[in-house]
Amino acid sequence: MATRSIDELPHAPGRIPFLGDVTSVDRKTPTQHELELSRTLGPIFGRKILGETLVVVSGARLAMQCSDENNWARALVGPGAALRRLAPSGLFTARTSDPLWAQARRIMDPAFTAASMRIYHASMQTVADDLITDWTKRSTVDVHDAMTRATLEVIGRAGFSRHLGLLGPETGGEPDATAFVAALGSILRWASESTNELPLLGAVRNRLRDGQAARDIKVLRGYVDQMLAERRAAGTDHDDLLAAMLHSPDPETGEFLPDHNVVDQVLTFLAAGHETTAALLESTLFYLARDHELQHALRQEVTAAGSLDYRAVAGLRGLRQLLNEVLRLHPPVPGYFRLARTDQDLGGFKIPAGRAVFVLSLAAQRDPQVWGERAEQFDPTRFADRRGEAAERFFKPWGTGPRSCIGMSFAQHESLLLLARILNCFDLSTSANELSMVERGTLRPAGYTLTATYRS
Ligand code: HEM
Repeated sequence: MATRSIDELPHAPGRIPFLGDVTSVDRKTPTQHELELSRTLGPIFGRKILGETLVVVSGARLAMQCSDENNWARALVGPGAALRRLAPSGLFTARTSDPLWAQARRIMDPAFTAASMRIYHASMQTVADDLITDWTKRSTVDVHDAMTRATLEVIGRAGFSRHLGLLGPETGGEPDATAFVAALGSILRWASESTNELPLLGAVRNRLRDGQAARDIKVLRGYVDQMLAERRAAGTDHDDLLAAMLHSPDPETGEFLPDHNVVDQVLTFLAAGHETTAALLESTLFYLARDHELQHALRQEVTAAGSLDYRAVAGLRGLRQLLNEVLRLHPPVPGYFRLARTDQDLGGFKIPAGRAVFVLSLAAQRDPQVWGERAEQFDPTRFADRRGEAAERFFKPWGTGPRSCIGMSFAQHESLLLLARILNCFDLSTSANELSMVERGTLRPAGYTLTATYRS
C-alpha cells in the first residue's frame, strides 16, 4: 500500500520554497534533462514549479504499470494539449471522451491495414525515386532538410494524392507548401516551448509568441482549406486517407465526419505523419553512415530481397531490427501522459485519481533493470526474434492502449522502403561523431550532413 505522497517524491537539488525546481528547468531539452535526472533520482521523481508537481515515471516496470488500461487512461497534457489550438478535434488532440474521436478512429483504422499499405507502396516508391534523383545531383545531403521533404511528400502523395512540390522535377513549384512546412515547424516548437516555460518570465515570452502562433495557424489552416476545396472541385476518386475522411461512413453509426473535423484530421496527419518519421529516419541514417559494416550487411539483405515490392520491403528483418533499436534509444515521441482512473500506488507513492503522470519512454527504454547492463549500447540484434519487444521489457515508442499511434505500419513501411532504396543506391558516410537531439515536442536529431556516394 502506498504510504508516501507526491510531495515526498525524489527531486533535483536546489528546490526553492514557492518557486520549486526553477533552477533546474531546461526549456530547450526537457526530456533529455529528465533522462539525466532519472539516473540519480530513480524510477519515479517529481518536478515542481509554483506548487504544481509533474510526476515523471522513468523506470520500465513502473512505466509498464501505467499501461494497464483498467487503472490508467491517456491524459491530454503538455504539447499535445497546446496543439488543440491548431486542431481541436483531430485524432491526436481530441479528448477520448469526445464521440468524434472514437468515430474518426473507426473510420480511419481501415486506412492503416496491410491492404492499404500495399496501395500506398506505389506512392512511396515515387518519393524514393525523386529522392534518389535529387541525391545523385549533390555530393552532400542536409539530412534534416532531406527527410522533412521526403516524409512530407510521402504523406502528401500517399495520404492526400497530392504532390507538394518538395521533391521531384516540380520542386519549388508550390510556394504554399514551403510556407506550410515553415509554419508547421514553428507551431511544433511553440507547442513544446510554451509548455516548458519558466514562471513569470515565461508568461511574458508566451504572450510575445502568441501572435506568431496565430499567424502560423492561419497559414496552416488556409493551406488545408485550399487543398480540400481543390479535391472537392476535382471530384475524382482516390484510394487515400483523404477519401476515407471524406467518404467513409462510421461503421457503427453510419455518420460521416463533419467538415470542420476533416480539416483538423488533415492537419493532424500532415503534422503527426511526417515529423516523427523524419526524426526516426535521420537517427537511423546516422547509425548507418558511421558503421560501414552494418551498412554493408543491410545492403546485402536489401539486394537479396530483389525488386523491393511491398512484400519484399515488409520482410526486411535486419532493417526492421535497426529501426526498433533506434526507436528504443531515440524515441521520436520521448514520452506520453497517463491519467490515474482511481487512486494508484506507483513505486510506493500515492497517485490520486484524476492525476496525470509523464511516462518518459526515453528513460524506461534504457532501464538496465529490464534491458540489462548494456542497455545504453546500440545493438539492433537485441530485437532478433522479437524478444526485444517482449511485454515485460517496456518498448513503447508508438504509445500505448487505444490512443497509441494509428500510423505505426505507415511509418514502418515508409522507413523500410526509403532506407532500402537509399542503401541500394548510395554509400553513406558522415563526419558527425554523435547524435545530438533537439526537442519540439518530438525528439529529433540536430542537423548533420551526410555524404551519399552514388553506387553505379
Ligand atoms: C516514427 C514515426 C512515429 C512515431 C514514433 C509515432 C509515435 C506516436 C505516439 C507515441 C503516439 C501516442 C501519443 C500519446 O499517447 O500522447 C502517436 C499517436 C498518433 N500518431 Fe503517431 N508516430 C509516428 C508516425 C505516425 C504517422 C506516419 C502517422 C500518420 C500517418 C501518425 C499519426 C498519429 C495519430 C493520428 C496519433 C493519435 C492517435 C489517437 O490518439 O487516436 N503517426 N504516435
